[in-house]
Amino acid sequence: MMAVASAPAKVILFGEHFVVHGNPALLAAINKRISVTAGTIEAEKIVIRSDIGAAGEYSGRVFKVLRGGKRARVLIDPIHDAARRALGSRDRDGGIEIDLCSEIPYGIGLGSSAASCVATVGAVGSLLGRHDRRWICERAVESERMIHKNSSGADCYISTFGGLIRYGRKEGYKKIESRESLSIVIGNTGIKHNTGEMVAGVAKFKARKPKVFQELMTRADEICSDAASALESGELERLGLLMNENQLLLQQIGVSNKKVDDLVRACGAAGALGAKITGGGGGGSIIALAANEKESARLAESIRQAGCDPIEAQIDYKGLVV
Ligand code: PMV
Repeated sequence: MMAVASAPAKVILFGEHFVVHGNPALLAAINKRISVTAGTIEAEKIVIRSDIGAAGEYSGRVFKVLRGGKRARVLIDPIHDAARRALGSRDRDGGIEIDLCSEIPYGIGLGSSAASCVATVGAVGSLLGRHDRRWICERAVESERMIHKNSSGADCYISTFGGLIRYGRKEGYKKIESRESLSIVIGNTGIKHNTGEMVAGVAKFKARKPKVFQELMTRADEICSDAASALESGELERLGLLMNENQLLLQQIGVSNKKVDDLVRACGAAGALGAKITGGGGGGSIIALAANEKESARLAESIRQAGCDPIEAQIDYKGLVV
């Protein structure tokens, strides 16, 4: 038996980091995917191969590296965890073979870890006849927490459900319809970040300056709600201004840096309606909003000239495909 699932990358349009502390965030799925093929095998083990430089097999608690040396286990443990959660307390004989193939650059804030967990639970779950997206998403969130412990869950929700969503830890997710099509250009600074470390840095900021943090949370919350209504009414210029303001908040909580600030400024100078970090920050990626597709090509060129890699992203409305 064999099953294939794929799940998209994402950008956070508004509210990253603040979402970890209970605020809402707005997210969009984009047209870069991770595909997972899962098949049953006779041997009682879980074999995982990936094109991200790691492969290994698990027989009970015993792990054997097949490729990737010492780093292999760190990279594929969450995939293994996702597969185990999908399998649950299965009492059948035999094992599972998993092949993961990714178009999503990892460590730059595009949600590659979440997409790999979602696609793995999707593929393995499908072998057992489980297709319920919420069931899949909840398990993927738990596995993603192996990678960064205090994950808000936002990345798994957008990767599972696709399109544009508003997400909050308590309120859950809600689909948003954008009246205008969005031309978003991603700029990869080339600096890999560790989301868990960035999130821990913000927690320290909060502990040091609780009052300031609370004020920033309040403003971030308002920005998020204004942005949702700007999306729904198609006011792209307003959306851009709100992105710029969100970036100022991210600077204040210490997740921006010079390269990010320079890139955001370069996008503004090249005519972006707004630009900001997307995801964990500390390098990673920025997003810039273009007025239209033609402008988007111009923004991509200015990102290239700033020495960074551009991706002209399309919104993915499919989410998880099994
Ligand atoms: O996976 P990244 O680097 O795009 O960051 C996830 C977004 C954060 O808000 C920083 C963390 C979270 O769990 O929501």
